[in-house]
Amino acid sequence: MYYGDLTCIRAVEPSNLDEVLKYWNDLNFRRLLGPPIPWSRRYLETWLEKRITADPWKDKMIELAITDKQSGKFLGFVHLEDIKRPHSRAEFGISIHNPDNLSKGYGTDATRVMLWVGFNILGLNSIYLDTMEDNERSIRTYEKVGFQRVGILRETEFIDGSFKGLLVMDILRDEFEKANPTFRVKMKP
Ligand SMILES: CC(C)(COP(=O)(O)OP(=O)(O)OC[C@H]1O[C@@H](n2cnc3c(N)ncnc32)[C@H](O)[C@@H]1OP(=O)(O)O)[C@@H](O)C(=O)NCCC(=O)NCCS
Repeated sequence: MYYGDLTCIRAVEPSNLDEVLKYWNDLNFRRLLGPPIPWSRRYLETWLEKRITADPWKDKMIELAITDKQSGKFLGFVHLEDIKRPHSRAEFGISIHNPDNLSKGYGTDATRVMLWVGFNILGLNSIYLDTMEDNERSIRTYEKVGFQRVGILRETEFIDGSFKGLLVMDILRDEFEKANPTFRVKMKP
């Protein structure tokens, strides 16, 4: 388990599924991740099973759970995928599901923890992401941690009847160290 200041990042367990299902079909949430199509329990189970049994090297991804460090409450998912070993790079993604838990600092902390893991455990050099160009909360979160804006893939997502751009952002290992000089992940609380 990896402990940040507010969150603990640990393995996702099948028992987290009920909590995920409470919010996963809230289409206001899901439209931030892509086309908002409702998922059945079975679909989510199958999707999750594949992701939580993935080997970072063989399957090129790692999906972990974000929990509150104090209470242990499950908050959401964080992942690195498209891990390209020869290039030491990967794509980052995060979702906190219950709207009551947004803008409380969890996302920033969990992003820092996962980037630390990417750079210091997986040996990555570069981590990138994309986010809807109007997802201001996510952009603010990523910039706080040190991600830089690379550019916009224009009119590339079809959401709610119109095309939206995706903002691409990235961060290099030394930029992460510079932007978060005192941040250290702990292996116990
Ligand atoms: C994106 C996400 C992970 C961020 O996590 P979070 O816990 O909500 O974020 P934090 O509280 O750590 O930081 C949010 C920052 O955005 C700011 N913010 C919130 N709403 C904002 C808005 N509409 N415009 C600009 N800034 C905003 C907050 O004030 C805070 O900045 P501050 O610390 O300078 O005050 C989370 O909101 C989430 O999962 N959202 C739903 C799914 C999603 O969008 N995932 C990302 C897809 S790329």
